[in-house]
This record gives sequence, structure tokens and C-alpha cells, in this order.
Amino acid sequence: MKGGYSHFMIKEIHEQPDALIETMRGRILLQTARRGSLSSLKEVDRSSESLRVLDSVRDLSLDSIRALGSGMSSDFDQAPCIKLGGLEDYVDNIMRSRRLIFIACGTSYHACLAARQLVEELTCVPVTLELASDLLDRQAPLFRDDTCVFVSQSGETADTLNALKYAKHKGALCLGITNTVGSSISRETDCGVHVNAGVEIGVASTKAYTCQILVIVMIALKLSEDSISKMPRRQEILRDLLNLPSMMKKVLEKESLIKELAKELASENSLLAFGRGYNYATAMELALKVKELSYMHSEGILAGELKHGPLALIDETMPAVVVATRDSLREKMWSTIQQLLARKGRLVLLVSKDDDEIIGHFSGNKNVRLIEVDTVCDCLQPVLNIVPFQLLSYHLTILRGYNVDQPRNLAKSVTVE
Ligand code: UD1
Ligand code: BG6
Repeated sequence: MKGGYSHFMIKEIHEQPDALIETMRGRILLQTARRGSLSSLKEVDRSSESLRVLDSVRDLSLDSIRALGSGMSSDFDQAPCIKLGGLEDYVDNIMRSRRLIFIACGTSYHACLAARQLVEELTCVPVTLELASDLLDRQAPLFRDDTCVFVSQSGETADTLNALKYAKHKGALCLGITNTVGSSISRETDCGVHVNAGVEIGVASTKAYTCQILVIVMIALKLSEDSISKMPRRQEILRDLLNLPSMMKKVLEKESLIKELAKELASENSLLAFGRGYNYATAMELALKVKELSYMHSEGILAGELKHGPLALIDETMPAVVVATRDSLREKMWSTIQQLLARKGRLVLLVSKDDDEIIGHFSGNKNVRLIEVDTVCDCLQPVLNIVPFQLLSYHLTILRGYNVDQPRNLAKSVTVE
């Protein structure tokens, strides 16, 4: 059952390139439209006969996906679009909502955090996030013109399910994003999207997380498909979506480097993680993985809050991870790195492979470890960025001698409040 791997968690981490493909399968449509004509694109869009569905390629491989990605031109010659069977009849309703409210627990909440900015950008509908238990504790106001999005790997988490019952009672449109077909949340939502990441057995969620982000990105693309002004941005994201599985594979090849890093960190008491923008979620998810599995204290911190408290923790004994891959916030992350180094922090930097400035500056510096990843479209970068830290938490846990698939006191599916 573990397919030659020693634990389910490491198997599931390595399954991610294939899981991403399964999540996209049948949902990204390629079409041939007359060059430069938006109206013809729309026509073709509505004619299912001229759509070549990704899953019609039976032996779909990483290489064929990459070929599709790199073959895409910007003039709609082979413009892909998104088909989400469960949402087709609901797009107009969702776009008319006053708010989109994402509701989840644990890692699923972090997936919402990772994708929120893109949903806001592409839909221009206000997006809020709610931890299910907190929404219920507050009995937060929900209205008939809200769309509530329930994200859950298992589809059975009690708090999320109770929040769904509450939202239904308030008359909100309820959309589910679940990895388990036939689960309570899948059945009780008005509409939704199955994640299709495959069964996840390790208590700590890995492949479901990256595929949940992918689903929310696809939903944002679907909801915005009528917007001409968002077309270039949608094209950029669609192209990179197709390249994501092969890029993920390259990140997984860094496992031996990450294992060495885990050896350096295994006897620490604490690990801080800084990120901002799309990668605030990466810092939060990294910290959750490290603490729930290796029992090492770990905190995910919004880098923008550094001077409002966390900086006091930094000295030469405190290891800190900084997610500083290239995006519009890179200069701000560079400043965070400088602030941490000025307090003699011991840093692990996740950087873009093509960021010669950071890499040149720190190579050879004994206090700084570098992990390099490919650069992908900003909203997809968290999908790649979490992978080294899934591997790090796995190897830290093994080195510290704990049960990586079944951490103490935790359950895969929390069915009681
Ligand atoms: C569906 C089929 C898939 C088939 C494809 C062909 C299922 C489960 N999926 O996938 O096997 O290859 O059509 O076109 O039979 N839903 C919710 N809440 C959720 C998740 C889903 O209500 O949390 C609903 C959806 O609105 C939809 C149904 O469940 O009505 C199936 O969703 P999904 O599997 O995502 O749909 P397709 O991708 O179209
Ligand atoms: C549990 C799991 O706490 O529930 C986590 O251990 C998971 O991995 C959380 O993120 C939420 O679960 P679900 O199934 O609703 O995504």
C-alpha cells in the first residue's frame, strides 16, 4: 500500500505531480480559435465538439502536459479554458454574490489563505476567510447573497460541517471543495468541485493541500472567464498551470538537500517561518507541518508584522525560514532578510533559482542556507514552495524518532467539535 515508500506521508508527497494532473484532468480544455478574435473564442468555448478535453489524452504524461503548456500561444491559437462540471450552472449566481466566504480548518484553511488574493483579483468580489470553529463561536452574520465555500479534504470535519449547516440555515449559497466523493460536505453543499487528489492516508495533509489550491485557482479562472480585462492574466496562469506538475517534480528532486538541512535543525527547540502575500500561507502551513509532526515548536509569521513583536525572538540561536521567491513583494522580503540578519538570525531562505542577487549574496555564508525553486506565476508559487517544507517536516520527524503518519493526539478526520 505504501508503494515502496516507508511511510504514507512521503508517498503522498511524491505523488503530488500526478495528483496535480488528476485534479486538472478533464477540466482544462484546449481549443482552436481564430487568431485574435475574442468573439470566436467565445463561440468555440460554447461548442463542445471543438473542445479537446485534457483527459482525452489517455496516456497523459508529465511530458505531454509540459508540451501543451509550452505550446500555448498568447493569441488564443490554442487557448485553454476551464470546465468545472459542478459549477457550470452556478457561475452567474456566485458572481452576483456580495461576498465570497471561504470556511475551513487546519491545512484546508491554509489552502484558502494561499488562493484568496487571486480570487479577489480575478472576481473583484470581496473575499473573506473563516476558521469554521471561529465562525460558529461568533455566530457570524451570513446572508442570502453570500456564497460560502467549504474546503475540506475529508468532507467530514465536524466544525466545517456545522458551519455548512449554519450557512444553509442563513440562506447562503454553499459550495464545497472536497477530496472525498460522497462525503457529508460533498453531499450537503449546493454545488462544488471534487479535488481528485486521490486517497490521503497520512494524518498530515500534503497532496490534498496543493491540489486544493489548484482547485481554488481553477474556480477563480472559471468565475472570471467573461472578463476581457482579465484575459492576459488568465492566460498567464493557465500556461503555468500546465507546467506545474513537471516543476513540482524538480522540487521533489531536492530531497537529499532537504534531508541534510533537517539534520542541522533536528535538535532545535523552535523554528520560525516568515512569508507574505501569496506565501504567508506557505509560512503558516510549514509551521503547522513542523509542529504537528516533529513536535518542535514552530510559528508561521506574516513578514509584515515582523517589527510588531516577532523581531524580539530573533538572536543567533533562533533558526528562521524566510520564503523569498520572486514576486511583487520580493523587495519587501529582502528587507525582512536584512532585518533578521542584523539580529544575527540563522536563516533558511527559499528563493527563486533565477534570483542571482540573493543567491550571489548568500552563497558561502555559513549562517544562511538556500533552497532554490523554479519561478512560476505568483499565484501558483505556493504550490511549489510548500514542497521543500513538507519534505523538511517529514525528515525532521523521522530524525527525531516520531510516528510521521500518526502523530500523537491527532486524527485524520476530526468528527467531533
Ligand atoms: C464529474 C464526475 C467525474 C466525470 C466527469 C465527466 C463524479 C463524482 N464526478 O466530474 O467522474 O469524469 O464528471 O464530466 O461523478 N459537488 C458538490 N459539493 C462538493 C463537490 C462536488 O455538490 O463538495 C457536486 C458538483 O456540483 C457536481 C458533482 O458533485 O454536481 C460532481 O462534482 P465533480 O466531481 O467536481 O464534477 P466533474 O468534475 O464534472
Ligand atoms: C485534521 C487533520 O486536523 O483536520 C488536518 O489532521 C486537516 O490535516 C484538518 O487539515 C482539516 O481536515 P479536512 O478534512 O476538513 O481538510
